[in-house]
Amino acid sequence: MSSESHDTTDAPPLTEDIAPGTATDPPLGSADRATVTVDGTEVTVAAGSTLIDAVEAVDTDDSVPALCHYGREGIGPRSECRTCMVETDAHGVVPACSFPAEDGAVVSTDADGAATARSVNLDLVLSNHNLRCTTCGKNGRCELQDAAIEEDVEEPRYGVFDDRDAYEPLDDTSSFIQIDRNKCILCNRCVEACNDVQVEGVLRMEGSGQDTRIGFQSDAETMEASTCVSCGHCATVCPTGSLVEKGIEDATTIPLPGFTQKNSIGKAYENTGRSKGPMTPKKRAQRAKEEAATENETGDGGDATPGVPEDPDGGEWP
Ligand code: SF4
Ligand code: SF4
Ligand code: FES
Repeated sequence: MSSESHDTTDAPPLTEDIAPGTATDPPLGSADRATVTVDGTEVTVAAGSTLIDAVEAVDTDDSVPALCHYGREGIGPRSECRTCMVETDAHGVVPACSFPAEDGAVVSTDADGAATARSVNLDLVLSNHNLRCTTCGKNGRCELQDAAIEEDVEEPRYGVFDDRDAYEPLDDTSSFIQIDRNKCILCNRCVEACNDVQVEGVLRMEGSGQDTRIGFQSDAETMEASTCVSCGHCATVCPTGSLVEKGIEDATTIPLPGFTQKNSIGKAYENTGRSKGPMTPKKRAQRAKEEAATENETGDGGDATPGVPEDPDGGEWP
């Protein structure tokens, strides 16, 4: 999104109305219960539903992946991936995940325009992915892989990540979560799970365009140095092998001869051994400081910050 200002002298800051990636996303669904016809089958969905809810309620003619829509816990849709396009009689081809289920809507999943849009958009998603399924810990339980198989993708029309770009180092520093940004499709699910559901505020999207990536709100460089509390929710909602719980990051890999890197290729940031408990050193330091401050306020504490470990990163938590 461009940050260039137009004539906005009296306009409120954009963030007053829109806070992407937070629970303040505006409601997208229908105002009331709605009866929708999907591929000839009528289905009635609850108030607040979008077309994807109706599509998921029936046996459709074509598969509709919906990769940036989690469908539970208020996570998504971000309307980013556009792999959920369907055709409606009234509005043409629309993203099902973020289109309200209007009463009387007629939806077709196998209309040419919708099927082509889904196929092109899935290939666009794959063009930012390395497709190294045989050495990925999510092999066999990956939503992106499922979508590609359903769509009979043999050769993504725009190539894959390997064809054109340098690899990001694999972040293997945390004792609990591995991050392989070379498999990230920027669906934002992990950011919402961390910020809106767990309310830990660890993850964020950073950068723009081709440089957009998952990063840390504390500006930490690695997972180990971040404020992550290792709840694992981000890995649970990730539709690809980009975030995988440690211990199963290699569980489904089929090693290739001569292939020495874990889960991806290129450089890896390894664990330093500092992160031993459920919290990273940075999070522990932050919590200890907060507790010490509370004790001081209530007069219980006495001297400043006993037991506060040195912040190894010297980073300030905002
Ligand atoms: S494991 Fe860490 S980064 Fe992931 S959701 Fe939990 S606190 Fe956030
Ligand atoms: S790490 Fe996973 S959940 Fe997070 S944006 Fe990337 S693909 Fe989506
Ligand atoms: S699931 Fe609809 S745009 Fe991604």
